[in-house]
Amino acid sequence: MHFVNKNRAKQIIDTFPEKKVLVVGDLMLDKYLWGKVERISPEAPVPVFEVERETVNLGGACNVANNISALDAKAYIVGVIGNDLNGKILKQLLQEKNIEGILVEDDERPTTIKTRVIAVSQQLIRIDRENKAKLSPEVEEKIIQKINSVIDKVDAVIVSDYGKGVITQKVMDTLLSSGKMVFVDPKPSNCYLYKHITIMTPNKKEAYQCAKADEEISVEEVGRKIMDYLQIDQLLITLGAEGMALFEGKEITRIKARAKKVFDVTGAGDTVIAVLTLSKTAGANWKESACIANFAAGYVVGEIGTATVDRKTLLSLIPD
Ligand SMILES: Nc1ncnc2c1ncn2[C@@H]1O[C@H](COP(=O)(O)OP(=O)(O)OP(=O)(O)O)[C@@H](O)[C@H]1O
Ligand SMILES: [Mg+2]
Repeated sequence: MHFVNKNRAKQIIDTFPEKKVLVVGDLMLDKYLWGKVERISPEAPVPVFEVERETVNLGGACNVANNISALDAKAYIVGVIGNDLNGKILKQLLQEKNIEGILVEDDERPTTIKTRVIAVSQQLIRIDRENKAKLSPEVEEKIIQKINSVIDKVDAVIVSDYGKGVITQKVMDTLLSSGKMVFVDPKPSNCYLYKHITIMTPNKKEAYQCAKADEEISVEEVGRKIMDYLQIDQLLITLGAEGMALFEGKEITRIKARAKKVFDVTGAGDTVIAVLTLSKTAGANWKESACIANFAAGYVVGEIGTATVDRKTLLSLIPD
């Protein structure tokens, strides 16, 4: 069952270009080194990887902003980069995608980057460069100033928390005191920070971790536990190939997955929260918003290398 037809979806999606969304969270770069292994090193018993090509994409919270921008809405992003080359690359990529970066440069930490080394199609290793320590009070204060400089302009806020330090109690208090809707893609260990938000969009594993629940407990019960704990009225648990469970007060709605083919599921969660936020901001109800987000996610999991959807494609996915 789906909750929007094409006409209604068109009404909603047509207004995306008027919308402005602030993304706050942990900024990242995703780097890929593509190449081959043909010999063992003479220095140590390890393979020698020859790089043939390298690509760098926006990751973490930046990918959520990228999804907003791909749907022709205005994306602002507040977060932290290091005073380094990767920070400059990240800024450049944001500019190319028409995302307004309102960034704090922290001399004490590197720009977060995750590098995958891939021989043919086999991932050999992932190399992470990051600092997950708490932000200094000075940097936290700068983030709050940046948020305050933009928040009055936007229609809604998305928190994209990967637990790298940007999302703190003070940051959440600042966002909530604005009165804007706050959509949260959570880091389970930070769950206590998300009281009174508008909606949270954990995947199944994250939901169980937030609720500190073990496997015998049903998704429905896990959802109710989270809603009681956070004192929130809505919750969307994404269930991978099983779609989604939408909680509105006491009502629970299951939405079936829509993917025709599945290639690459990474980033589907970012598409879900971006489309959910824009649809809700455009006046859709929660069922309509979740349904449109589910169609969008079903599309991005079927594409190789793209983690975003544009408005025309999104509308084409929705049945008459
Ligand atoms: N294997 C799949 N088949 C069909 N649809 C899928 C599949 N995996 C994900 N989806 C779609 O993507 C949505 C989000 O997926 P999932 O629950 O895996 O989020 P996630 O783990 O947060 O993703 P991410 O890797 O971005 O963090 C699902 O609700 C569904 O609509
Ligand atoms: Mg996710």
